[in-house]
Amino acid sequence: MKKYLEMSKEELEQEVVKLKAQYKKYQDMDLTLNMARGKPCHEQLDLSMGMMDALNSDADLSCEDGTDCRNYGVLTGIHEAKVLIGAMMENKPENIIIYGNSSLNVMYDTVSRAYTHGIMGNTPWCKLDKVKFLCPVPGYDRHFAITEYFGIEMINVPMTPQGPDMDMVEKFVSSDEAIKGIWCVPKYSNPQGYSYSDETVRRFARLKPAAKDFRIFWDNAYGIHHLYDKDQDYLIEILAECKKAGNPDLVYKFASTSKITFPGSGIAALATSPNNMEDITAQLQNQTIGHDKVNQLRHVRFFGDIEGMKAHMRKHADIIRPKFEATLEILERDLAPLGIGEWTKPKGGYFISFDAPEGCAKAIVDRAKKAGVTMTNAGATYPYGKDPKDSNIRIAPTFPSLGELRNAMDIFTVCTRLVYAIKLLDKMGENISLTENRYEENMKKASKAKK
Ligand SMILES: Cc1ncc(COP(=O)(O)O)c(C=O)c1O
Repeated sequence: MKKYLEMSKEELEQEVVKLKAQYKKYQDMDLTLNMARGKPCHEQLDLSMGMMDALNSDADLSCEDGTDCRNYGVLTGIHEAKVLIGAMMENKPENIIIYGNSSLNVMYDTVSRAYTHGIMGNTPWCKLDKVKFLCPVPGYDRHFAITEYFGIEMINVPMTPQGPDMDMVEKFVSSDEAIKGIWCVPKYSNPQGYSYSDETVRRFARLKPAAKDFRIFWDNAYGIHHLYDKDQDYLIEILAECKKAGNPDLVYKFASTSKITFPGSGIAALATSPNNMEDITAQLQNQTIGHDKVNQLRHVRFFGDIEGMKAHMRKHADIIRPKFEATLEILERDLAPLGIGEWTKPKGGYFISFDAPEGCAKAIVDRAKKAGVTMTNAGATYPYGKDPKDSNIRIAPTFPSLGELRNAMDIFTVCTRLVYAIKLLDKMGENISLTENRYEENMKKASKAKK
């Protein structure tokens, strides 16, 4: 099979005619498929229904230390939840603050506190002329939404399979006092599924920031979200590495059980140094008397310990692994032989990152939408929604059923081929509307011939 770049104008035209016919067939099917957000599917949510039985009206809702979970108090979370989440995050219980149901909420609060009150006695960011954040790209749109909301200037840093471009990170962080943070998804990153290499983590821990209140926002959302039992990514634990490097306060680490139990009804946590903990709890005590201890206890009773949680994650993997594999198989089948696009092959997490030929992402997502397939908006993986190359598309394979996913991916690859073929013809100086007219004529001829 010839690659698109090797095809003549006539061959590309034939492709367009053929693909348009396929596309029309899909449009006529009136499908409604959603590949936009990384949500667990129903079967995954069913895995955690036992949580609903972990506590009932006969249950003793006392903690190991006698605390009655039904009542007020325990600002930073019950001890047994800190043990469980600490094991999940690979941190000691004493370095953990358990929050409410969402880690994004914790990240928002963390930026907000720095903005209004400053970090550990430093000037509140709202009083500074300029505050900047480094944003590894492509990245997670909701991270970028938080910093955009606070008017923080975002600077793109390219991602590599080993993590962010560390030469660039080191240069920026050490030379510009206005740079106060960096968003990181260090394991099975959103959207690529990359995990930071040992060297990357070590270089992060050894940063020499110009700003005393620079912090790494280490969102380890997918720490135990492996797709395979044996072939798993490994990440160096950042808090310990920072301590070793003499930089103990450099990092805020976030995680939650959103994609372990129920998104929106899980528990979220922050792990950090004693100095940061003190700074944070001084504010937190003005914000709440304590988070939902009943839910914390429910999680502990449901899982027992980290081994229970890991066994549970294997069940998630059994459900979503075939979806990742089907997605990759269809991309390989339909696009690889034609030399169109590039994509990641993650071993965990929730996403596959697809790079379309430059200038095609928006058109592909628009076309898919018109055939009933909703993808994450093109551009969403970049700050301000602006992908300078209009190339990246995040694929979220978990939510649809396997059958729906296959349909959606078939449509996606047809849209990708169509958009790229038209783009190439355009570049060759071909008038696309003429091509399209020719297509219409061919269709009419074909239907007459049938009659
Ligand atoms: C990297 C990352 N962080 C955080 C979240 C959301 O976490 P939570 O539900 O704990 O707010 C997601 C959800 O997609 C995510 O991909």
